[in-house]
Amino acid sequence: MQHKPVYVTEAERLEQEHAIQQILNMDVRPRSFHIVTYGCQMNAHDSEKLAGMLLEMGMTEADDRRNADLVLFNTCCVRDNAERRALGNVTWLKELKKEKPDLIIGVCGCMVQQPQMAQKILRQYRFIDLAFGTHNLYQLPSLLLNLLRRKTRVVSVSDEDTLIAEGLPVKRLNAHHAYITIMYGCDNYCSYCIVPYVRGHERSRRMSDILREAEDLVKNGVQEIMLLGQNVNSYGNGSENGETFPRLLRELDRMGVPRIRFMTSHPKDLSDELIEVMAAGSHICNHLHLPVQSGNDEILRLMNRRYTREDYLLKVQMLRDAVPGIGLTTDLIVSFPGETEAQFEDTCSLVREVGYDAAFTFIYSPREGTQAARMPGRIPEEESTRRIEKLIGEVEASTARVHESMIGKRELVLVEGLSKRDPNKVSGKGTRGITVTLDGTAADIGTIVPVTITSAAVNTLRGQRQER
Ligand code: SAH
Ligand code: SF4
Ligand code: F3S
Repeated sequence: MQHKPVYVTEAERLEQEHAIQQILNMDVRPRSFHIVTYGCQMNAHDSEKLAGMLLEMGMTEADDRRNADLVLFNTCCVRDNAERRALGNVTWLKELKKEKPDLIIGVCGCMVQQPQMAQKILRQYRFIDLAFGTHNLYQLPSLLLNLLRRKTRVVSVSDEDTLIAEGLPVKRLNAHHAYITIMYGCDNYCSYCIVPYVRGHERSRRMSDILREAEDLVKNGVQEIMLLGQNVNSYGNGSENGETFPRLLRELDRMGVPRIRFMTSHPKDLSDELIEVMAAGSHICNHLHLPVQSGNDEILRLMNRRYTREDYLLKVQMLRDAVPGIGLTTDLIVSFPGETEAQFEDTCSLVREVGYDAAFTFIYSPREGTQAARMPGRIPEEESTRRIEKLIGEVEASTARVHESMIGKRELVLVEGLSKRDPNKVSGKGTRGITVTLDGTAADIGTIVPVTITSAAVNTLRGQRQER
């Protein structure tokens, strides 16, 4: 059962609107902003909301942090290197602040939401002016107003971990494909993962709010919608009015959204009904990101994933039977505490068995406060490097096999932009999620073009336009 969300009240929303007005009335205020985003799509979408609010405060978006009066780092803490990268970049701004003393530097997002982290960051990084957690995102206007008025540093990290803020302005990064968050938080507590601690309890938005957002996007010419959540399959779990993920997908499909994608799906919650909806839908892309993490049952048990290799392979088979030509991608972790060579090899063999289109591969990174961080059997770094390199080799071989098999097939490509290498070519993604390049011009951007795949390169496919 999911947690009942607490919605941001009308009074709180008005308070933020009021703060925006007051900032607009100030003579001395930041006029431009730059946001640096780390982490997953969820964070990318949060940054679109931050940008939306900052635009309402009368600022313009600067393309470079050097030209901005306010620089905001929207951070990730899922692995140690994500944290280190963010802090390294923040430190770089210290010099800039010496030249521009009025520069405002803020940090927000998952890293800041960790216990005691905001205080730690402020203690260590004296030049940071503003720090707020994931649950405080919608309060950006009032936090900034406080900072501008009092000229003291402002910190706000709330424990209110079931909150949903509706109606925030969004500055979409892309005109043709758009993100919609359908649920927040996670209650799965995979033993290695920090996300449940920094994103709060699992809670779902009202279906009516999601459908309204989708309708607006489609009216504005959006061709593809990506539904976001840490575990979209459990959308609406326990909702009183029977709002479920398959139902939501059916509604969106009926609405005529040209293309629908979603991530992430947890294998344990991938239901028969969802597979049926994917098979029956005419707008749902034939791609599924289905993170498996490991191919070994004992490691999966220790990870608290709640499925076995066999369960996973069975779901893969069901998907392939129901949705012909479906492309699968995944996430994999090597060197989980105590992982033996044989257990690692099980992950390699699973990659060969499934035949993924692509996979994100990670070396296990201990996260403070998680269960796995207390487990024995740390794997030495050199050994982890060897394992990940071997695994990347397996994934590349799998990708190559998939790409070869696509030659001669038809794909529908949503053109995203001009090719970086050749100005007479454009590129975009097929329904299966693989990048395809084809001859074309800027006029093709934002349209869906039918192509025949003619050849395969390392990360992309080449296609030739089909006459309609
Ligand atoms: N909710 C999504 C994943 C979110 S995090 C899901 O359950 O699939 C994205 C990926 O980061 C995970 O799938 C996992 O492969 C990886 N990851 C998470 N915590 C990690 C850690 N401590 N060390 C290494 N990789 C990790
Ligand atoms: Fe992390 Fe597991 Fe939740 Fe994904 S499902 S966010 S890996 S705890
Ligand atoms: Fe990172 Fe937070 Fe996403 S920890 S992966 S940005 S939910």
